[in-house]
Amino acid sequence: MSNPLFANAPLALIIGCGGMGMGTARALGKRHPLLIVDIDAERLAAAAEALHLEGYTVSGRQCDVTDPAQVAGLGQSLGQGVRVLAHIAAVGGIVDWRVMMAVDLLGPHLVADVVEPYLVPGGVALFIGSLAGYLPPLDPRIDALLDAPLQPGFMDALEAVLGDDPKWIDTYAYAKLGMMRLAETRAMAWGAMNVRAISISPGMIDSPMARAQGATLPSHGNDDREVPRDEKKDEIPLRREGSLQEIVAVLDFLASDAASFINGIDLVVDGGHRAVWRARGVISR
Ligand SMILES: NC(=O)c1ccc[n+]([C@@H]2O[C@H](COP(=O)([O-])OP(=O)(O)OC[C@H]3O[C@@H](n4cnc5c(N)ncnc54)[C@H](O)[C@@H]3O)[C@@H](O)[C@H]2O)c1
Repeated sequence: MSNPLFANAPLALIIGCGGMGMGTARALGKRHPLLIVDIDAERLAAAAEALHLEGYTVSGRQCDVTDPAQVAGLGQSLGQGVRVLAHIAAVGGIVDWRVMMAVDLLGPHLVADVVEPYLVPGGVALFIGSLAGYLPPLDPRIDALLDAPLQPGFMDALEAVLGDDPKWIDTYAYAKLGMMRLAETRAMAWGAMNVRAISISPGMIDSPMARAQGATLPSHGNDDREVPRDEKKDEIPLRREGSLQEIVAVLDFLASDAASFINGIDLVVDGGHRAVWRARGVISR
């Protein structure tokens, strides 16, 4: 803890300190003490040290968001209250689909449940989705399933929808739809406490995570083609990928009092990509 003015104020809790998490920490840390969380102990220590040396009031806690006991333990660090929860951690690309679903959807639900009693009036939870979350078909049964991922049998029920060997992009898309729905349901549950919940859906963002997903992306046309990222970005009206800074600026705004009546929405930050998908009939949401 370096700034005594902040020492006992409610926290900005940042889950995931990759590129977007660090940018978000630097923005929110100007107004709030920071608690940063990651599964990767080395990354977490380096992140906390860097922020500390830059003058932020910061502490770190290692936690695997898929482990209910570890997430429950987070509560021990939240006694001063939580003003902002920014749930950013996720995995994309090629991992076992159940692992991806656990990190990208079950984890955020576990975290939201544990953080809930510590959220202070005026607080806000920001859940990072993705434009991919608009890809699943419009089906109330899928929505209802994704609303309860901690129920026994969830993965098997989802397997019946996705098939037994789903592509990563499909798993990712359903998990991110679940993130949007998490924001909607928590907005309704938490509104009476004067706490907001919002999801943010970035489109194509040039970032280490995006580059790690590979040089190609699904075409989202009528075929199963993979197209080079460079070709894919021509689908975007602005003809370019966004930057992490362009997402962080939106998170900073949504977490601020300037956004005090924005609640229960998904904010798409994609250079107009979704509009093109809608016009082409690629998505129905
Ligand atoms: N970068 C993009 O192009 C893009 C586009 C759309 C959406 N998003 C979303 O933005 C968010 C962050 O992206 P990023 O670029 O910062 O990713 P990143 O890979 O740089 O950071 C993710 C962080 O999450 C941590 N993490 C992974 N599994 C964890 C677990 N089980 N428990 C705790 N921490 C865990 C990782 O260690 C890492 O530090 C993700 O939700 C991602 O889906 C990114």
